[in-house]
Amino acid sequence: MTHPIQPVRGMNDVLPADIGAWQHLEQVARSIFEAYGYEEVRVPLVEHTELFKRSIGEFTDIVEKEMYTFEDLGGDSLTLRPEATAGIARAAISNGLLRGQRHKLWCSGAMFRHERPQKGRYRQFYQLDVEALGYPGPDVDAELIALSARLWRELKLARVRLTINSLGTPASRQVYRERLVQYFRAHESALDEDSRRRLLGNPLRILDSKNPDLRGLIDGAPLLTEYLDEESRQHFAALCGALEAMGIEYQVNPRLVRGLDYYSRTVFEWITDALGAQDAVCSGGRYDGLIAQLGGEATPAIGFAAGIERIVALLSQAGGVPPPRCPDVYLVASGERAERAALRLAEQLRDALPGRGVVLNLGGGNFKTQFRRADRSGAQFALILGEDELDRGVAAVKPLRREGSQSDCPLAQLPAHIASLL
Ligand code: HAM
Repeated sequence: MTHPIQPVRGMNDVLPADIGAWQHLEQVARSIFEAYGYEEVRVPLVEHTELFKRSIGEFTDIVEKEMYTFEDLGGDSLTLRPEATAGIARAAISNGLLRGQRHKLWCSGAMFRHERPQKGRYRQFYQLDVEALGYPGPDVDAELIALSARLWRELKLARVRLTINSLGTPASRQVYRERLVQYFRAHESALDEDSRRRLLGNPLRILDSKNPDLRGLIDGAPLLTEYLDEESRQHFAALCGALEAMGIEYQVNPRLVRGLDYYSRTVFEWITDALGAQDAVCSGGRYDGLIAQLGGEATPAIGFAAGIERIVALLSQAGGVPPPRCPDVYLVASGERAERAALRLAEQLRDALPGRGVVLNLGGGNFKTQFRRADRSGAQFALILGEDELDRGVAAVKPLRREGSQSDCPLAQLPAHIASLL
């Protein structure tokens, strides 16, 4: 016997038993995004590798070691998107959407990162991504955070809290970066291998290290907030004020630096204590320099992405998944003639009762088997069509979820009768 083909590590199937939570999240999110004036876009899963190198940054974990990069048959280096922001920025430039215009966009879909898979961290994962292009803020920063807070409220997720920080401008960050390198160089022997490597390429990422041995050293490091330029300081103060005015609780985390290089000023993360190590359910920030860096006209922008698997896990934990939809009627038919008539009757019912769930028994079976299937389907009513009913021009209607006995109904009156019952 040939052995079954295994799934790719870190890439999951979402089966019907789990899809309810995904659909619920997607529906709630879509309706909130639209209500705030965001329009959906769909961008390719594959881009030129160069795009991600130039946007996310050469010395980030993503670009250094997590990208699915390959050469296509034409010899181009392509990469499966590890995130959506770079692709959306690229799309805005390629399609001439900017030119002094502003756009509020969202997209949803699969992202790919070759990380070490564990609970809440996968190699193919899904994001809901929201981007506001052409908005300098801080009003839009506050509104985007309010939008994400509304998402948690509508999903009834209580165990998430907001952390924010400001990374300042590239110039102020450069000054800070030099200070930080000085500090860590003075303690170089205490650094682990990863941090030593980061010291050369991306010293801010040392602050993000999860190594408990570095805790004390990191706690003693100079703070970015002490090096903020005046305008960034004002921007951040205005954001904090707006959040307070909207009653959104937050915590300033001066160590929040984010793992992608394109950020400037506002960064934020919604974290949870309910999922173990993978605690970020939604992260984002401002990226005022990115679009110019990719060859577009200078355009301030901000956005965030929420991890769908992590939110689905929270939803399941909180019992916030609506029950699956069951059919309204299940059509049972026995005998060749009746089975053929049932195929036609089911279509007639679907015409007459749009949106209603009409499931036809397929593949025959005796009445007992068919009734068992009808019951398992969760349908409200079974419709029974045997040779005898067919001869009399009726179908029998049998309630499956409530009291009441079976009764005959003339075929012509069936749609109206069912409509009155449901
Ligand atoms: P990110 O922090 O890399 O940011 O990812 C955003 C969210 O995606 C995370 O908070 C997490 O919920 C989820 N996520 C990330 N990696 C994985 C993984 N391997 N498995 C499961 N979930 C994961 C970005 O991607 C930025 N593009 C966000 C953004 C949009 N910034 C501005 N606009």
